Amino acid sequence: MTEIATEAAARALGVCYYPEHWPEAWWEDDARQMREAGITYVRIAEFAWSRIEPEDGRFDWDWLDRALAVLGGAGLRVVLCTPTATPPKWLIDREPSILPVAADGSTRGFGSRRHYSFSSAAWLRESRRIAAAVAARYGASPHVAGWQIDNEFGCHDTVTSYGPEDLAAFRDWLRSRYGNVDSLNAAWGSVFWSAELRSFDEVALPVGAVTETLPSARLDFQRFSSDQVASYCRMQAEILRQHSPGRFVTHNFMGRFVDFDHHAAAEPLDLASWDSYPLGFTEQFPLDPEERALFAETAHPDIAAFHHDLYRGVGRGRFWIMEQQPGPVNWAPWNPVPKPGMVRLWSWEAFAHGAEVVSYFRWRQCPFGQEQLHAGLQRPDRSLSAGGAEALRVASELRALSLPGPARQAEVALVFDYEAAWMLRIQPQGADFNYVELCLRWYEAARRLGQDIDIVPPGHSLDGYRAVLVPSLPHITKPALAALRATPAATLIGPRSGSRLADFAIPPTLPPGPLQALLPVRVTQVASLRPGLSHAVTGALQGAALRWREWLEGEGEVLARFDDATPAAIAAHRRVYLACWPDRALLDAAVRHVLEAARLDIVELPPGVRLRRCGDRRFAFNYGPSPWTLPGPADRHFHLGGATVAPQDLACWNA
Ligand code: GAL
Repeated sequence: MTEIATEAAARALGVCYYPEHWPEAWWEDDARQMREAGITYVRIAEFAWSRIEPEDGRFDWDWLDRALAVLGGAGLRVVLCTPTATPPKWLIDREPSILPVAADGSTRGFGSRRHYSFSSAAWLRESRRIAAAVAARYGASPHVAGWQIDNEFGCHDTVTSYGPEDLAAFRDWLRSRYGNVDSLNAAWGSVFWSAELRSFDEVALPVGAVTETLPSARLDFQRFSSDQVASYCRMQAEILRQHSPGRFVTHNFMGRFVDFDHHAAAEPLDLASWDSYPLGFTEQFPLDPEERALFAETAHPDIAAFHHDLYRGVGRGRFWIMEQQPGPVNWAPWNPVPKPGMVRLWSWEAFAHGAEVVSYFRWRQCPFGQEQLHAGLQRPDRSLSAGGAEALRVASELRALSLPGPARQAEVALVFDYEAAWMLRIQPQGADFNYVELCLRWYEAARRLGQDIDIVPPGHSLDGYRAVLVPSLPHITKPALAALRATPAATLIGPRSGSRLADFAIPPTLPPGPLQALLPVRVTQVASLRPGLSHAVTGALQGAALRWREWLEGEGEVLARFDDATPAAIAAHRRVYLACWPDRALLDAAVRHVLEAARLDIVELPPGVRLRRCGDRRFAFNYGPSPWTLPGPADRHFHLGGATVAPQDLACWNA
């Protein structure tokens, strides 16, 4: 592990700024206004390659020197980026092999961003060159607080690429994983449909066939592609560390995105950061129509929070919001204006979950280019936007309220697994079996009962947790099994857990496979349920199965049964196996059951209200349409707000 850089901001605001978009005569004013607004960090240059190196080998540092001097001179701390998200035209013309190839074999061309393959030799060479050039130039600058590598790995579906160099790298990856082709054939089950190979040179990319290719091959291709992202991130991190000791190194990850293992990619980083677009995600997330309408202008109360808790884990306790929307975005199907108060509320929700910095995207709305209708803290005419005014308010509140340090360990852990997302996507078996959605629903159910949650990867220690939620974990690795075995926590394990081995095969003892060492049950049959079909569940837990249902048998206490009398939930040794995708009533009942077994304090919250503890403070956030009054003593000491929390408002008190 790398040494953690020293500059850990207490709690601060930041902003994303593009000096190359504005007349230089404005820079000083911009920097001064940022400082006056209470902004500490300014992130720059992630898309500036064509200005840094306008022609092959000819660098133009002058403008960036001046930009750093102006920003730093105003007292701002700069987060400088490597500009690898946008390789310039001259480079693509010289090295067209950099361009990624789509699954249909077409080349994804120049003209937007992220037009590179992680396996292109020319790209790796050019990435090293530009990262080293920028890092050598500014690595020792007193204005540079830290670095962002690239921008949003995988954005616009760019983790995978299907060109000749991707194939060659995939074959090498398989060689080192399997050693010989017989092992590969055995692991993939290639005998099925006569897909056996005689050498690694016969491996093809698992796309473009007449129908479905081997699921085991697709899983390996996803693992390979994920490893390519992680090693690319490590390569850049090493260059930055060499030239810029003592500065932090991060990357801005995305929301709702699982195409690579973020824990592996973040391993060489000092902290994780992520880009929070609460309304954009509320538009994109699979929500019920009424829910979407209810939260369209405030955001679903758990989507950003889920990612805060996920990325706090990815960053091993440290995370930033590198981008937060300050008004409407431009990229969702519909792009509403946040209701008054929400930009402030989202900022505080991030701080309450432990974010060190909330940085807004972007300083000023840009009147040209692809994102003209994306709000900034300023409008294109340099006047303050509504979101800008809210950021000013957050800055002054932040000054008044010194928040305690990093988040403490929560009492509830939710196990989230990137491989689970890939496996369930590769063979969903039901069109609406969406892993991220399932996890969000389980998270939501616990939050609606007032819980704070840590999101951890499988195999992570579960010491100190009183309740553990495992929404679905198809592949149970040895470390995952050991952690689940070791914890005395009340544990709820969801459908399809233990249903696949590492190579995607069904376990010989039937699902939940290795989990049978902890829970004496087996799944004899599964069904996906089309919209409109449900199977009622009755007993100590009531509700219904939607989307997915299993036939469970085994020993233990049957907590609930389906109509045909087969068990829907079996409990044994503080663990409960839930054999379906639960509807809201059943999920609430199951989560409540484990929280009560863990003797956790439960607070019943309305759909739009959430709580979060931060050190000795507690926050309440109201995303809903009605005021909410805190239960309990009236004589609390409030730092923000009061006992009744209005819609789009928050409260913070001594817990
Ligand atoms: C992010 C990206 C930014 C900008 C923003 C717009 O995904 O990192 O560069 O495009 O979205 O919301």
